[in-house]
Amino acid sequence: MRKLFLFLAVLFVTFQQVTLAAIREVASTPDSVYLFSFAASGDDGRSGLRFAWSMDQENWFEVGRNYGYLRCDYSRWGSQKKMLDPCLKQSSEGEWICTWKLNDRDGYGQATSKDLIYWTSQKYPRTTSDFEGMRVKAVVAGEEQKGSINRVAWELVEGLSKHYDWNQYRNSLYGERPVQDGERFAGLQPVQATVTVQPERAKEISELLLGAFFEDINYSADGGLYAELIQNRDFEYDPSDREGDKNWNSTHSWALKGEKAGFTIDTADPIHPNNPHYAVLDVEQPGAALVNAGFDGIALNIGEKYDFSMFARAPQGKSSKLKIRLVDGEGKVCGETSLSVSSRQWKTYKAVITAKVTADTHLEIIPQSAGELNLDMVSLFPQDTFKGRKNGLRKDLAQTIADIHPRFIRFPGGCVAHGDGLKNIYQWKNTVGPLEARKAQRNLWGYHQSMGLGYFEYFQFCEDIGAEPLPVLAAGVPCQNSACHGNLGGGQQGGIPMSEMGAYIQDILDLIEWANGDAKKTKWGKVRAEAGHPKPFNLKYIGIGNEDLITDIFKERFTMIFNAIKEKYPEMIVVGTVGPFNEGTDYVEGWKLADKLGVPMVDEHYYQSPGWFLHNQDFYDKYDRSKKTKVYLGEYATHIPGRKANIETALTEALYLASLERNGDVVHMTSYAPLLAKERHTQWNPDLIYFNNREVKPTTGYYVQKLYGQNAGNEYLPSKIVLDNKDDKVRKRFASSIVRDSASGDVIVKLVNLLPVEVNTNVDLSGIGAVQPSAKRTVLTGKPTDTPLPVEDRIQIAEKFDCNLPAYSFTVIRIQKAN
Ligand code: AHR
Repeated sequence: MRKLFLFLAVLFVTFQQVTLAAIREVASTPDSVYLFSFAASGDDGRSGLRFAWSMDQENWFEVGRNYGYLRCDYSRWGSQKKMLDPCLKQSSEGEWICTWKLNDRDGYGQATSKDLIYWTSQKYPRTTSDFEGMRVKAVVAGEEQKGSINRVAWELVEGLSKHYDWNQYRNSLYGERPVQDGERFAGLQPVQATVTVQPERAKEISELLLGAFFEDINYSADGGLYAELIQNRDFEYDPSDREGDKNWNSTHSWALKGEKAGFTIDTADPIHPNNPHYAVLDVEQPGAALVNAGFDGIALNIGEKYDFSMFARAPQGKSSKLKIRLVDGEGKVCGETSLSVSSRQWKTYKAVITAKVTADTHLEIIPQSAGELNLDMVSLFPQDTFKGRKNGLRKDLAQTIADIHPRFIRFPGGCVAHGDGLKNIYQWKNTVGPLEARKAQRNLWGYHQSMGLGYFEYFQFCEDIGAEPLPVLAAGVPCQNSACHGNLGGGQQGGIPMSEMGAYIQDILDLIEWANGDAKKTKWGKVRAEAGHPKPFNLKYIGIGNEDLITDIFKERFTMIFNAIKEKYPEMIVVGTVGPFNEGTDYVEGWKLADKLGVPMVDEHYYQSPGWFLHNQDFYDKYDRSKKTKVYLGEYATHIPGRKANIETALTEALYLASLERNGDVVHMTSYAPLLAKERHTQWNPDLIYFNNREVKPTTGYYVQKLYGQNAGNEYLPSKIVLDNKDDKVRKRFASSIVRDSASGDVIVKLVNLLPVEVNTNVDLSGIGAVQPSAKRTVLTGKPTDTPLPVEDRIQIAEKFDCNLPAYSFTVIRIQKAN
């Protein structure tokens, strides 16, 4: 890698020398040159707006290799974000206007810039006269391209070129990985470090620093955290949930086994209009069974009890007995019960099944007499859910999340919150109330949301684990990567029409009333009470928007929502959004809007390489402390090629979290993303916790989150770090963070060593007060590709003590104050 970089650098310098020599032949430095702007036709402009300069319009020199200075943000990732035939013009005020075609249908993309480097938010007009202009052909780097030519000052080209160089340099830093450590740190000796706490400089930090972000991605909800064992229990799977899957419809996961019976789907007179489909089982002669496959099967545990329930009716009024069986792959009955359906009207039927064995099974519903039966909401739940809640959560998974001790939970997304197009925006009201009346919806990750895990269950879970709820609602615009859905208003670039914004804002205000309103005196407080929670949930935080593009459409809608919440609920902490990256137009524009409106907190997102985290540990040190707006780092994770989670990614996160604790005065909340992933059903990697029907498999990164969550403090104790090795590369790979938890009085020392050698650390705690002579130490260590578990022991503590940090390790020492 390093060799490749050197080669590229030499190539680049040679190229520059050649081009500079070309300039010198003509004059020392030209005042102006021709600038050719184009988007590569080979990739439909997905690599963005590119530039080349020339003195004679014959010989063109590319500015940056294949480097796009502006990329189209319209529609889905991948094939849809095109920049066709861009046209660059300069206004009489000197501003550059770039206009391009989006596709053959949706009109144009447009952005403006002063320097061709920083571009304003994109607009997508249907028509524009700015697109008109002559396109010429030019050969750039051996390829013919079509574009437009402007005469520009040489300084402009120099600026573009410097920007490219800087980016190349940054990318080389961000590409640093431990695999190169052998070469990078050849001959490195163990490092000596002293960490001297400076209690006189102590500062308060957020008590909510470490939380969790739950999104229904990777089958996190249905088939995951939501303990329901029947897949497609409501027969509402819809072909539109999953493009290109012929089997994805109301019968998904269901099948008829046996003969002389029919299984069809009907919608006449359903239980509820929100749940229109149900099964019709027409039995000519008993023997056949309606079978549900579950989510990769139905895992039973011996001796455990399972609540079976269903809505059913016998339209011909003929009473029918049904056997309900859980059957394994060999046909062995592992648990069973029976029911009689007699009513002509929809009625709930319930029974309990006790598992006779531990087995992977499927469900069979076997009518014992001929006739027609209608079935819906066929459900099977383990009784042993998290905290024993009905309609509850899978105990082991919920406990694994609870063990992080997250101080808040953000839900329900992510992209799921703002949805794929306006019609897919997550509507909280569809997710509360009786299960049969909830409105299922397509999950934009390519499957189905039953909404059985809805807002009530999310709030209940937060309460059960002592976490603040942080619901996130769309800011009146759908996901920035929404498909165009055939019309301009359907994608991200459309927003909820102004005529509907009043109702949308009312829904958001209703949510606050639902969560906090009086159970008797308020309409929505009553709804909450009827659902079984008379006490308010005490909602304090509400997220508006999820990494949206900060367009004019967004700004207008966000401002309306923000002002409405502020007026009715001034105490509510609104969390705004600043785009999907840690820099660029949305980040800059999002922050400008937050500063202008005085938004209390904004949600930053960035998924980055280990090198990025390593070289940006000072990201928040540089924050303007006088700003009113605090930070919620709502989504982050270390991504390496192959998207694996191992100790390399985990230690990078541990290192960065040390900097977040240090900046816990401005960074109030953080959450790794995504949280859960069902094996064989992932749309995104890495995730914090993998699972299947029987096992929970936390990643190494999970243990880092848990160690930070369980060892959080509300007071940061700065320290002076001195290493005997003064090399900057070494210093950046060592971090320490010392916090005090005032509730227990404990002082927690966290030490991260991302070096391939040991760091012998002397910790000087003078001034923090008397402490217990021994302390719990937890160490996570291994080779960069390993996925180790943390190991605990006890060590002796004194005012000054030595602690040897193994190569590539994270060490947490929890020191209790003396009695
Ligand atoms: O965490 C996965 C996705 O990443 C989220 O849905 C979205 O907000 C982000 O792009």
